[in-house]
Amino acid sequence: MITKPSSIAGRAPLGRKPTAIGGIVALAAAAIVAGSSFPASAQDDGLLANACTSCHGVDGRSEGAIPSIAGMDPEIFLAIMQAFRSGNTNATIMGRIVAAYSDEQLQEIAAYFAAR
Ligand code: HEC
Repeated sequence: MITKPSSIAGRAPLGRKPTAIGGIVALAAAAIVAGSSFPASAQDDGLLANACTSCHGVDGRSEGAIPSIAGMDPEIFLAIMQAFRSGNTNATIMGRIVAAYSDEQLQEIAAYFAAR
């Protein structure tokens, strides 16, 4: 007799419902920590970009010391990101952040900020 694998639909519900804010923070954290396994598609480039706006400002327009990244040429953007990833820059944090993203994801993020 063939037994069907048990469905995850039968799993016990979570103890508490995540709040909308908690969900957004969790998504942003997931994008930073595990960007390479974060599903990327043309539709969620805004979600990928959310991981950047806490430092680079809404739509990539920074109000502080961190550089603005809105409206950057996507090719230059990508070249900078790859330089960060190579470790051959004096970056304080970007090398570690960029390490989590695939080239495909970086292209989507580049296109997103180029259009801001
Ligand atoms: C924790 C804050 C922080 C986060 C989050 C962050 N950045 Fe940065 N970013 C910086 C800092 C600081 C610099 C200056 C270089 C350095 O010291 O690492 C920088 C520099 C850059 C630059 C170079 C800008 C220029 O004109 O030289 C680009 C492009 C960039 N970041 C893109 C991104 C993208 C894309 C994301 C999201 C995937 C992101 N950053 C997330 C802090 C952050």
